[in-house]
Amino acid sequence: MKNVDIFKESEEYMPGGVNSPVRAFKGVNLNPPVIKSGKGVIIKDEEDNEYIDFVLAWGPLILGHCDDDVVGAIKEVSSMALAFGAPTKLELDLAKFMCTNLDNVEMIRMVNSGTEATMSAVKLARGYTKRKRIVKFAGCYHGHFDGFLIEAGSGVMTGGIPGSLGVPNESIENTLIGIYNDKEQITELFKKYGSEIAGVIIEPVAGNMGVIKAENDFMETLRELCNQYGSLLIFDEVMSGFRVAFKGAQSLFNVKPDLVTYAKIMGGGLPCGAYGGRKEIMKNLSPLGGVYQAGTMSGNPIVMAAGIATLNKLKNNQNYYDHIENIGARLEDGIISISKKYNLPVVMNRVGGMMTLFFNDLKEVRTYDDVKKCDVNRFNRYFEHMLKSGFNLPPSQFEALFLSVQHKESHIDAFLKAFEEFASNENKMSL
Ligand SMILES: Cc1ncc(COP(=O)(O)O)c(C=O)c1O
Repeated sequence: MKNVDIFKESEEYMPGGVNSPVRAFKGVNLNPPVIKSGKGVIIKDEEDNEYIDFVLAWGPLILGHCDDDVVGAIKEVSSMALAFGAPTKLELDLAKFMCTNLDNVEMIRMVNSGTEATMSAVKLARGYTKRKRIVKFAGCYHGHFDGFLIEAGSGVMTGGIPGSLGVPNESIENTLIGIYNDKEQITELFKKYGSEIAGVIIEPVAGNMGVIKAENDFMETLRELCNQYGSLLIFDEVMSGFRVAFKGAQSLFNVKPDLVTYAKIMGGGLPCGAYGGRKEIMKNLSPLGGVYQAGTMSGNPIVMAAGIATLNKLKNNQNYYDHIENIGARLEDGIISISKKYNLPVVMNRVGGMMTLFFNDLKEVRTYDDVKKCDVNRFNRYFEHMLKSGFNLPPSQFEALFLSVQHKESHIDAFLKAFEEFASNENKMSL
């Protein structure tokens, strides 16, 4: 069957033909290819077209598709352990790995997705502080939990809607909106509401409004405000964990979070999430404490095995991060010099293996307002050209592109060749 036929039939049975909105390519006005297989960085659609993949399942596949060790671990465990709903040694292995290798994680609770991790961390912060309000930053996305669905970055921005229907005002009346990288605004917010704020949740390297790194002094201000007012600082490392560095975005700042959330890479490509922090806080979770959070599939053996295989491989091969940095720099430098050659105004933000090419003529992109000034039509032309040239990129100006250890210089050079064709076409259009 052709991609388009499968997708059209899918639309009959699943809203928009998908199980997660961005996959539907609505923002770029195209039909998505229907993917059937992946190995390394090459994915194949149902018509056997091949693409070099820079989405990597939206971040998790830092080792590339179907890494032999990860698949081997899944095969081994799945022949004897699908699910028990009882403690397993594999859970201990992954929990111990996370607690001993990461900073500021003394105890951890496994869940099944990033959304579950962040919503549970916020509940824990509320239970621990006995306060109601939380702060999230405009442009940051923390999953589809009701309390987070305002100013929630890429998915909702690309769909052109401010938030979501079905979220009662009562669910968001305790959510305060901070402005990313704006020290004064967050200080004012704390002056007004500080004693009522249970926690502040932030993507320390934002990926969901395109890549923007939080500034050091902004993060220090956040930490000081949380200390001063007794609020918890929650780093959402669902995307940045094990990606921007082995120890995640935490290692890029001189600031300690109270709670941290993970998902994506830690699950090795299977559905997984986790949240952790100091024991004193984590012990408030049921069955030890009064904050109730549970899950039939949480800590599933196959998922744990995939996570352990992935994280062990990353730990034992720290040169992977050097490789990703090198090819990232090659891609960034190439794009910048081609853009200059063809007078294409762009800003490139990159932190290790996650990056966004913003089509705008600003000097830098450091706030959500900067992001909103992008030329989305130009992004869409870029996206279509790259897709037709065999490159699978995130279908939105407001997302991050991801690199893996399997991307080689030859893949980057092929990307740059296709990008040069696009830049040259844009240049001709403007003449
Ligand atoms: C920073 C961040 N937090 C939370 C989530 C939600 O994770 P999930 O899609 O696994 O529910 C995402 C998803 O992209 C994310 O990027």
